[in-house]
Amino acid sequence: MADNVLVAYATKNGSTAEIAEAVAEVLRKGGLTAEAVPAGSVTDLASYDAVVLGGGLYAGRWHKDARRFVRRHRRALTERPVWFFSSGPLDASASERDIPPVPGVRRAMDKLGVTEYVTFGGRLEEGAEGRIARMIVQSGKGGDFRDFAAIESWAERVARALGGQRVR
Ligand SMILES: Cc1cc2nc3c(=O)[nH]c(=O)nc-3n(C[C@H](O)[C@H](O)[C@H](O)COP(=O)(O)O)c2cc1C
Repeated sequence: MADNVLVAYATKNGSTAEIAEAVAEVLRKGGLTAEAVPAGSVTDLASYDAVVLGGGLYAGRWHKDARRFVRRHRRALTERPVWFFSSGPLDASASERDIPPVPGVRRAMDKLGVTEYVTFGGRLEEGAEGRIARMIVQSGKGGDFRDFAAIESWAERVARALGGQRVR
């Protein structure tokens, strides 16, 4: 059983952090030890048995902290069970169908041998950082498209794969 799970996240506006917190909470309910931590602040994976890494999507790429995390911890990631997720689409598409990883994430998965991936809907709301973000919100195309029921059931699958108990 993999008891200590790192849920690392890369975020600009906080929505991916909240998804990571929700995932860590489900893993804890499943009897595992899990903490959600900003990807940029992780220096060493030695104390973790498994890793979940999530990044917000910006212009077709993972947030830079997620890309750096993969480069920095490449070796340790190949030696542990790893799950990736993205938070992005500002519409219901991620709840309706599986959205494949963006090409950079796909390449990282291939290099590391990661097979488990999911795209969750994103959130962009009033107060988001950046000119383009504000333009999207002002044009009425923002909103919160994170599906926490889907996030929790994905996290339950991760928990079960790691030997945790059924949580529902
Ligand atoms: C400038 C900008 C570019 C974005 N590009 C993408 C994209 O390429 N694909 C996508 O699915 N979502 C895109 N989004 C939506 C974000 O991924 C979404 O808001 C996500 O939840 C952000 O995560 P964060 O709050 O953790 O930073 C973009 C948002 C902004 C503001």
